[in-house]
Amino acid sequence: MTPTASEKTLKYNSGFGNEFATEAVEGALPIGQNSPQIAPLGLYAEQFSGTAFTVPRNSNKRTWTYRIRPSVLHKPFARIDNKLLVSNFSELETTPNQLRWNPLPMPQEKTDFIDGLTTIAGNGDLFAQTGIAIHIYRANVGMTDRFFYNADGEMLIVPELGRIGILTELGALQVGAGEIAVIPRGLKISVHLGDAEARGYICENYGAQFRLPDLGPIGANGLANPRDFETPVAWFEDREGAMELVAKFGGNLWSAEIESSPLDVVAWHGNYAPYKYDLRRFNTIGSISFDHPDPSIFTVLTSPSGETGVANCDFVIFPDRWLVAENTFRPPWYHRNFMSEYMGLCYGQYDAKEEGFVAGGGSLHNCMSAHGPDLDAFEKASNADLKPQKLSGTMAFMFESRYIIRPTKFAMETSELQHEYFEVWQKLKKNFKI
Ligand SMILES: [Fe+2]
Repeated sequence: MTPTASEKTLKYNSGFGNEFATEAVEGALPIGQNSPQIAPLGLYAEQFSGTAFTVPRNSNKRTWTYRIRPSVLHKPFARIDNKLLVSNFSELETTPNQLRWNPLPMPQEKTDFIDGLTTIAGNGDLFAQTGIAIHIYRANVGMTDRFFYNADGEMLIVPELGRIGILTELGALQVGAGEIAVIPRGLKISVHLGDAEARGYICENYGAQFRLPDLGPIGANGLANPRDFETPVAWFEDREGAMELVAKFGGNLWSAEIESSPLDVVAWHGNYAPYKYDLRRFNTIGSISFDHPDPSIFTVLTSPSGETGVANCDFVIFPDRWLVAENTFRPPWYHRNFMSEYMGLCYGQYDAKEEGFVAGGGSLHNCMSAHGPDLDAFEKASNADLKPQKLSGTMAFMFESRYIIRPTKFAMETSELQHEYFEVWQKLKKNFKI
């Protein structure tokens, strides 16, 4: 891990979307006022707003930062190569076929978090603030004197291989497989490696910010509990030199020269901030009689669309849990859904597909495209002795969207696409008897 992401800096505030107040140097945070005529310690006051000023109070997000230099101190941005980052999802006609990919290989040349971003699929329109993009990140070096912000969407980062340290304007986060980090739209970050290599998934969310789902009859507790979300405390570096700020703006990468680290926020208060969450703290709810609920019961975070109950994106997980339902086909049943589903695997084995769907890989089952257990999983589940069974050491997830998820040209042409995927269902037999 980088020296700056030391134990000292890895302190967190608990709670989802709370109004936090934190200072790395005593006296840096003004009391009772956001923008005094002269901010404490010679700092600049700068507001970082994550919603329109006028949205209702319960969804209004903004943070006041007290920083060594204001963010405006940079040279003009110029376009740089997007490499495998794509924002146009009309490159190809979208197939209704079920798709599945092997993990993308790790790069041989030195590649940091930005250079390794590879877009697999997406939908909606970043300019209209709808939809998502699904990327894989692959890195073998940290971002040295390089910083990044994404004006197009917030980023839900799901590590699969290796730990990463994410230094942000508002503090430092460390995450590995089994955890997630959410980086708000616009927040400047620098991503460093805790291991030799890092790979994982990113849901870039163009739509409404991720929030906890309502619980309905479940009640006040359960699923992801707010106290388990962690937001960093203030941390800063006062460092000068030739550095680079990369922006993702309007679907493209832009680069500007800067002469000091933008991670120079000495104190901040507000509710627009990054957070991490350990998916193993998710309180699973399931059937204790028969059948099993729809997978929405495993929703960690949801990005609502304009229509009640219809998500721009749901982030759903399939963690360790007990299966106890009687007289029940326990794996996911065969289905065709309104929602489109991209699945990934952080570790372990997924119960509907014991082979072919591996950590770091992915699958895509789009709107109304049929899917379900393969032959082996079907036969095993149909003939199982239904004792209580613990699924252990597994963490699959789903980015589920109301909009058809459109694979990129890269995703359809990579040799990691499993062209034989459809075969897993072809041996399903006719069992019908009168
Ligand atoms: Fe599905």
